[in-house]
Amino acid sequence: MASIPVLPLLLLFLLPVYANAQQNQSNLILLGSSLSPNANRTSWLSPSGLFAFGFYPQDDGFAIGIWLVNQTEKTIIWTANRDDPPVSSNATLNFTIDGKLLLRTEQGRELSIIDVNQDDGPATSAAMLDSGNFVLYKNHSNVIFWDSFDFPTDTIIGGQNISSGNNLVSSVSISDHSRGSYSLNMQIDGNLVAYPVNSSVDSKDAYWSSDTYNGGYYGQLTLTRLGVLFLPGRFGGRILANGSYPDKNGTTIYRATLDADGIFRLYLHHFKSDNSSSMLTKWSALQNQCEVNGFCGLNSYCSGMGSKADCNCYPGFDFINTSNKFLGCYHNFSEDDCRRSKDPAMLYNVTSLENIVLRSNFPYSVKPMTKENCGQFCLEDCNCGAVSYTDSNCRKYKLPLTYGRINVNESAATFFKLKRIHSTQIPELFIGSKRSLILILSVSLGTVSCLCLVLATSSFFVYRQKLVRYRKLSENVNLGLAEEFTLRLFSYNELESATDGFKEEIGRGSYGVVYKGITSSGGKTIAVKRLEKAVEEGEREFQAEITVIARTHHKNLVRVLGFCIEGSRKLLVYEYINNGSLADLIFKAERPPNWKERIRIALDVARGLLYLHEEGEVCIIHCNIKPQNILMDDNWMAKISDFGFAKLLIPNQSRATTDAEGRSAYLAPEWEKNSMNISVKTDIYSFGVVLLEIVCCRRSIELNVSTADEIVLTDWVYNCVAAGELQRLVVVEDENVDFRKLERTVKVGLWCVQEDPALRPSIKNVILMLEGKIDIPVPPSPVLCIAVS
Ligand SMILES: *[C@@H]1O[C@H](CO)[C@@H](O)[C@H](O)[C@H]1NC(C)=O
Ligand SMILES: *[C@@H]1O[C@H](CO)[C@@H](O)[C@H](O)[C@H]1NC(C)=O
Ligand SMILES: *[C@@H]1O[C@H](CO)[C@@H](O)[C@H](O)[C@H]1NC(C)=O
Ligand SMILES: *[C@@H]1O[C@H](CO)[C@@H](O)[C@H](O)[C@H]1NC(C)=O
Ligand SMILES: *[C@@H]1O[C@H](CO)[C@@H](O)[C@H](O)[C@H]1NC(C)=O
Ligand SMILES: *[C@@H]1O[C@H](CO)[C@@H](O)[C@H](O)[C@H]1NC(C)=O
Ligand SMILES: *[C@@H]1O[C@H](CO)[C@@H](O)[C@H](O)[C@H]1NC(C)=O
Ligand SMILES: *[C@@H]1O[C@H](CO)[C@@H](O)[C@H](O)[C@H]1NC(C)=O
Ligand SMILES: *[C@@H]1O[C@H](CO)[C@@H](O)[C@H](O)[C@H]1NC(C)=O
Ligand SMILES: *[C@@H]1O[C@H](CO)[C@@H](O)[C@H](O)[C@H]1NC(C)=O
Ligand SMILES: *[C@@H]1O[C@H](CO)[C@@H](O)[C@H](O)[C@H]1NC(C)=O
Ligand SMILES: *[C@@H]1O[C@H](CO)[C@@H](O)[C@H](O)[C@H]1NC(C)=O
Repeated sequence: MASIPVLPLLLLFLLPVYANAQQNQSNLILLGSSLSPNANRTSWLSPSGLFAFGFYPQDDGFAIGIWLVNQTEKTIIWTANRDDPPVSSNATLNFTIDGKLLLRTEQGRELSIIDVNQDDGPATSAAMLDSGNFVLYKNHSNVIFWDSFDFPTDTIIGGQNISSGNNLVSSVSISDHSRGSYSLNMQIDGNLVAYPVNSSVDSKDAYWSSDTYNGGYYGQLTLTRLGVLFLPGRFGGRILANGSYPDKNGTTIYRATLDADGIFRLYLHHFKSDNSSSMLTKWSALQNQCEVNGFCGLNSYCSGMGSKADCNCYPGFDFINTSNKFLGCYHNFSEDDCRRSKDPAMLYNVTSLENIVLRSNFPYSVKPMTKENCGQFCLEDCNCGAVSYTDSNCRKYKLPLTYGRINVNESAATFFKLKRIHSTQIPELFIGSKRSLILILSVSLGTVSCLCLVLATSSFFVYRQKLVRYRKLSENVNLGLAEEFTLRLFSYNELESATDGFKEEIGRGSYGVVYKGITSSGGKTIAVKRLEKAVEEGEREFQAEITVIARTHHKNLVRVLGFCIEGSRKLLVYEYINNGSLADLIFKAERPPNWKERIRIALDVARGLLYLHEEGEVCIIHCNIKPQNILMDDNWMAKISDFGFAKLLIPNQSRATTDAEGRSAYLAPEWEKNSMNISVKTDIYSFGVVLLEIVCCRRSIELNVSTADEIVLTDWVYNCVAAGELQRLVVVEDENVDFRKLERTVKVGLWCVQEDPALRPSIKNVILMLEGKIDIPVPPSPVLCIAVS
């Protein structure tokens, strides 16, 4: 673990910076230099003496990083391997003769503190620059090939930028610089947005944004040396802050940090000529701590103004850990009682709280009624965690409640359930049905052990359905769309009205037509896929299958929200993905994404596939990877859709339904020969074709080309690689293409499209190769027999 530097994943594919280095011989760090906390030299200073790189104290030990010298509070601006534990004072950092920066711990473990491509090194010297950038040079200090500015942690310094796809992640605290709870993302759409880490990075999770939009594929946050923090943009951009400081005596250094409390701030450090220094806060993105989503944990709310903030449990909840109130709260009574009771309203009474903002929660039911009835409405529904009452409407929410806070301007009253103390009456149980469920379960578990997961989950579904019918609550039992991994069961009528009678068709795949819809409760946009006749299996198998699909949860996969089975009608409900498909983006867009973006998208797809093949509970072979099935979300992140049906369709139905987009171009040869030979390598083939299409921004078969040998993409790419004519593969406008990376990428593509499945790499190796972590041998021609002319 420790040998893998923990830098933000998104940064791994950043290209190394090639620049004409302005080296300053006076502070050049030469090969063979070393630092140690207990040696005479613990850090390397910049020529100005304002920045230092080296060991600084953290907890009981030391970490390696860059800081501003002589500050009252140690101002760390960068930390290497920030999540690694501190090392002891006997550790040494050596800039070895062969050009590596190696940290040797007291235990004798050695690890590289920077992440460089093996084909970029070795370094020949290093320097701590006056800009605050720590750089490694190669070729006798002519070329910067690694610099700390490209891998920011929680801070940027005047002169530094963050470009789209990259982010800042706050530190745990002012003294612990490992990864904390918040992330500030420079999105591809040009918006700079703050989210709690580990959230779904959805607009409901965002707590601050610059509200800038570039309409395109690139965004950048810049802090100038003069203290202007801005986002340049096609539509004028936006200045977030101008920290300019009139006193020209001494030196000023600006610093923008996503602080441990989640608030992005601009600071000024002023070094006066008498060697004293001061620090000023010039700008703060937010004034109130309570506005930071995730400051308080689940089922708790934030109260207080400014930096004075407190977390409190909602009525009926207790702190998970009373000594750490930020961790959130749990219901102090069991919801099972409610589900077992015939008359749940008898178990609880309600209490209300004023001025609570619950905007990040999505109500699963909105009904007009009086305030008095609103509380009662929740009591009768075991799924209801809280209701809020505004504008004569009663909104029901499921637990957990997220990001709640007090805001005096909020007029809503929110009701919570409290357990009645003297309810001794034992509710009647559905013992009969539960027992038989257990019996069914144990029999099936005993007999078919390998299918246990699928059976159990599908039995659970059947059980839940029964329960739902029994209670005759089907109107009210909505299992919550956003928060949980549970699937919602939709009725056909509901989906028919959500899609306005299946009016707006947004896609057509091999398994059915997809329609756009809007849920009646809450108005969330959804995509509804009506599966066509091809799926002939029984309900049970279908449920088992979609249960597996629903348990997939990955940022590069389109999320399934629910389903509907009524007789032969089978429909699936997906999250709606806004920005069209990858096919539109790379084949049809006026301005296709730039090189860096394309590489990122390819890695997105690969990571989605890695999840399907290796990381999920079961291995899912997609069988239909193609750009039309890869959708682009609001942040231009690629998400694979249409997965999980292969098993339902194999062996023959699917082959009969070839869609208009000419799917055969992506099909592995073995599929045509014998569909029983399908394996994960089938997907690798399709991925390879898609990868080459992404790189070259053209279809795998393109008739509108200048010479006949360009028609079939894989052959053309192979010929170009063999002839050393890589530049033919990319369009001229793509100014930033890194040809070594291009070569690497097309080589990966060519390995993936090998006719012999055994030669194709696993998706894990594909990712490692794309990231430059492992070597790529020269690929053979993709076709086994080459016609010799
Ligand atoms: C550290 O400095 C002391 C005195 O300044 C000197 O005697 C000693 O040799 C130095 N040690 C190393 C490892 O350079
Ligand atoms: C190199 O560093 C010295 C000492 O701080 C400084 O005086 C000089 O201007 C620097 N030269 C360049 C080219 O940055
Ligand atoms: C460092 O090494 C010395 C000599 O081996 C040992 O006495 C000392 O306790 C070590 N220091 C730490 C902090 O482990
Ligand atoms: C690192 O440097 C120290 C001091 O110069 C030396 O004792 C140690 O052997 C070096 N370690 C490596 C791995 O080069
Ligand atoms: C190394 O630098 C020299 C000039 O000092 C230059 O001529 C040469 O092309 C460089 N080599 C590489 C591989 O960049
Ligand atoms: C930051 O962006 C500006 C404007 O695009 C550019 O001039 C500058 O060179 C960039 N700085 C770095 C360190 O990349
Ligand atoms: C985020 O998730 C990771 C992995 O589950 C966990 O280790 C980390 O503590 C989480 N961070 C926060 C702030 O919850
Ligand atoms: C920032 O403020 C200074 C002083 O008020 C002013 O001279 C400068 O033009 C401002 N910069 C921008 C980009 O507005
Ligand atoms: C700069 O510092 C000098 C001496 O410390 C002082 O005399 C002078 O007034 C200062 N100038 C400004 C603009 O503050
Ligand atoms: C500031 O530090 C420099 C270098 O250490 C020293 O030469 C100078 O005398 C100091 N000035 C004051 C006012 O302490
Ligand atoms: C930091 O403080 C030391 C000692 O007080 C002084 O010699 C040095 O010049 C200061 N450095 C800066 C950059 O102010
Ligand atoms: C609700 O129940 C709690 C606990 O039994 C009790 O303290 C509270 O007074 C009751 N509230 C109402 C309105 O009945």
